Amino acid sequence: MIRHFISLKSFSKPDIYKLINLALDIKRNPARYKDVLCGKCVGLFFEKPSLRTKAAFCVGTVQLGGQAVYYAPEEVQLGKREAISDVSRTVSRFFDAAVFRTFAHESILEFAKMSSVPVINALSDAMHPSQILGDLVTMCELKGDVEKLKIAYIGDSNNVCTSLIHAFAILGGNLTIASPKGYQPDKKILEEISECTKNSGAKLNILTSAEEAAKGADVLYTDVWTSMGQEKEKAKRKKIFSKFQINDKILGLAKKDCIVMHCLPAHRGEEITDSVMEGKNSQVFLQAENRLHTAKAILVYAFKGI
Ligand code: CP
Ligand code: NVA
Repeated sequence: MIRHFISLKSFSKPDIYKLINLALDIKRNPARYKDVLCGKCVGLFFEKPSLRTKAAFCVGTVQLGGQAVYYAPEEVQLGKREAISDVSRTVSRFFDAAVFRTFAHESILEFAKMSSVPVINALSDAMHPSQILGDLVTMCELKGDVEKLKIAYIGDSNNVCTSLIHAFAILGGNLTIASPKGYQPDKKILEEISECTKNSGAKLNILTSAEEAAKGADVLYTDVWTSMGQEKEKAKRKKIFSKFQINDKILGLAKKDCIVMHCLPAHRGEEITDSVMEGKNSQVFLQAENRLHTAKAILVYAFKGI
């Protein structure tokens, strides 16, 4: 069986905890893992820009003893220059794993169908599982048991939000999402996780008030109002989302020791203010660093299993 990492939905609760603990162990004992990818080559195929995810998988591969080759957006042109199935079968003959960042989530699925090597989702329009796995690592590191936390996600119900929903549906826990009407999680996503939520006992609240969501929260999480690929909607979204900003007032409603998270890049003055981003509750750069340890855990999983 090829161990792909495409959606958190494919993982059980014990497996997600194994991945979190593996990332924490890699963070504490990097030398133990320095040869896991010895002689292996990982290809990165990105249709969109990236700072953190590219760094996490490139540096992570090198720290695990392997080599990484990066293809930039203009080089990839999945399905345009040649069929995805042809790219997939070619890539499988050169690389030992493929890390993809795409627009259409279907492109990753189509690629994986024909791939004989593990495929890792480095963000699609639909989800961002490696980000949320890293964020769970950060929450565990700072706060312990994630299932006991009250998480408030304020902003657009986008790819990051969807993976957050997947994670909490599987793990159980308390997740509140505050988004404007029309920008709330898709019904299909909620239907898909309903069985899982029943089994885990997760509490998922969907609100239209950022204030209500923030009350008593242990974690305040936000992401950009306009994701990559939605640039034409930027002005419209700026108006619609203006009340969904993490600012001092919203922070004041959360627990005193709450942590503020943002997957980054941040649009300061939009979804988060400078003062919150630079304030004592902000953990955004630890969060960014943990992407590295988590990418390494995902690679170890893909090559060796957990
Ligand atoms: N958070 C995140 O995925 O950042 P990049 O887009 O810079 O990779
Ligand atoms: N929702 C954002 C996440 C960036 C890491 C985007 O897709 O652009």
